[in-house]
Amino acid sequence: MNEVLEAIKTRRSIRAFTDKKISREDLELLTDAARYAPSGLNRQSWQFTVVQNTQMLEKLAKVIREELNRGADYNFYGANALILASNDRGNPLGMQDCACALENIFLAAHSLGLGSVWINQLNGICDVPSIRAVLSELDVPESHLVYGLAALGYPAENGRPANKKDDVVEWVL
Ligand SMILES: Cc1cc2nc3c(=O)[nH]c(=O)nc-3n(C[C@H](O)[C@H](O)[C@H](O)COP(=O)(O)O)c2cc1C
Repeated sequence: MNEVLEAIKTRRSIRAFTDKKISREDLELLTDAARYAPSGLNRQSWQFTVVQNTQMLEKLAKVIREELNRGADYNFYGANALILASNDRGNPLGMQDCACALENIFLAAHSLGLGSVWINQLNGICDVPSIRAVLSELDVPESHLVYGLAALGYPAENGRPANKKDDVVEWVL
């Protein structure tokens, strides 16, 4: 199997991370992977916001906890860094574009020995004032909606075994 197919098949969502810090170089490789994703009409109206500052990670987790009544343990699984994928709210393909970019991030992270998981809780609550205030502190534009977050770090678990349906392909030959 070639390297790309191998990476696709061996990536799993990781929900436990060590304390090891991700290097700036590796974070740049991940944002590069995101930037090279396809986007509808090649608009690239997205932004990738990298957050590694511990206080800001906690601040964001706290407002999400409060808004969604999540327990004190909600902390993005203790990820070392987040990449927020946001897009102009006027782009009708913004969510799809961000999903492509996030998958690129997940696969690139896996290839670098990093674990990752999609965090979905910001979807739909970006304009709640307490959430938007933190997003503004992170320089996410007011005109953007956050469609997904990549939680990233060195894996402290193997991830769940792949559980992939094999009856979801229809052939018309
Ligand atoms: C749109 C989307 C939203 C997701 N949201 C979350 C989430 O909020 N929290 C989480 O732990 N995993 C989340 N996941 C990860 C899925 O649970 C995971 O991809 C799925 O269980 C399959 O496992 P795998 O990634 O190891 O193949 C999300 C995945 C996608 C594609």
